[in-house]
Amino acid sequence: MRILSIETSCDETAVSIVEATGDFPLATYEILGNQLYSQVALHAEYGGVFPSLAKREHAKTLVPLLEQALEEAGLLLPGSHTTTESLETEIAALLEREPTLFEALSLFTKAFNEPEIDLIAVTVGPGLEPALWVGVNFAKALAVLWDKKVVAVNHMEGHILASIYDVVEDNKLATIAFPAIALLISGGHTELVLMKNWGHYEKIGQTRDDAVGEAFDKVARLLGLPYPGGAELSKLATLGRKANLPALKADLPRPMINSGDLDFSFSGLKTAVRYGLEGTELSLTDKQALARDFEDAVTAVLVKKTSEAVVTHGAQTLIVGGGVSANQFIRTELNRHFLGEHPDCEVYFPTPGLSTDNSIMIALAGHAHAERASNPAAAKLFRAEGNKSLAPITDVDS
Ligand code: KG4
Ligand code: ZN
Repeated sequence: MRILSIETSCDETAVSIVEATGDFPLATYEILGNQLYSQVALHAEYGGVFPSLAKREHAKTLVPLLEQALEEAGLLLPGSHTTTESLETEIAALLEREPTLFEALSLFTKAFNEPEIDLIAVTVGPGLEPALWVGVNFAKALAVLWDKKVVAVNHMEGHILASIYDVVEDNKLATIAFPAIALLISGGHTELVLMKNWGHYEKIGQTRDDAVGEAFDKVARLLGLPYPGGAELSKLATLGRKANLPALKADLPRPMINSGDLDFSFSGLKTAVRYGLEGTELSLTDKQALARDFEDAVTAVLVKKTSEAVVTHGAQTLIVGGGVSANQFIRTELNRHFLGEHPDCEVYFPTPGLSTDNSIMIALAGHAHAERASNPAAAKLFRAEGNKSLAPITDVDS
């Protein structure tokens, strides 16, 4: 089964073609084409993701990325695709709010024929709604144009599957033991999810305010680093740790570390970092020490809560996903803790390139739910859901 997947939930526009051989979760996934355009530099001057700019950029880039992904996959078929007037009217209506996208798709349709794909997978949420809508409407238009089925994907399930996808060894998902705990840490999310089986999700903890990535980005900004500063902040922290610098903020809190539940809170930590620093000129070593202090505090909370979740639910697997799972210190500390305290619990992190947003993960999650894919007429009812949660989905039992 060849899956065309589309991701536009935030500030990355991504389109992939993935060939799945076999049934989920035992299938082999070959990446035939993978195109991603990061808008990060454009949003940097706003210090965060600017939704209407994200929407405009998705609309501008989706068709070029589709063309490149198909070309990479050897599936770009020159020759005009035959459409009828009623089909064109239908597509125009679907893309009424995306005139740039409609124009680009019309030109594409005149230049290229229907590609040999079997399914379209698209992120419907969670994420920025205006951004999500562009991808959702694009998927609907392609479905109508080529008469293909569409499957709605939850972005967070994508992150979970990306973390156990072994693109280096065998192109398969790891065989994991249940129950599993997923720690999802990104710019928009911080949550602990209990998985009793494939597709059965229960959120057991979440942030009450800022997400971890958001806290990283805000503290990075305090240190004068451009958005999104998470990775850069972590580099400073590593230098501070290597040099064994004395603490600049020895009293940074570990918010909610002993709260007894599995929730998080990071906004106070960011405020604590800022407190007393306003107007102070920080030297490079001050910044390195502060970054290290902050990263230590965040990591301590993540390790403690994740460990509690694993113990409480007798989990045999820990899956760490989302952009912040790229953080080397968090990885090292989680690995160290779990090897020492819970050696029977297998820990998974995404391979580089699959921790931040991408469309490979959307193809994987699309394949997991391929059976409930909708025909083009039914797919027209798909909606972007900014707050979509990883609600229990019970249609995957294997
Ligand atoms: O999953 P993602 O690409 O997008 C969202 O869905 O939010 O995550 C992006 C977030 C940003 O906040 C970024 O600063 C953070 O992940 N991030 C990191 C690192 N790499 C990315 N945070 C800390 N350390 C890193 N190495
Ligand atoms: Zn994400």
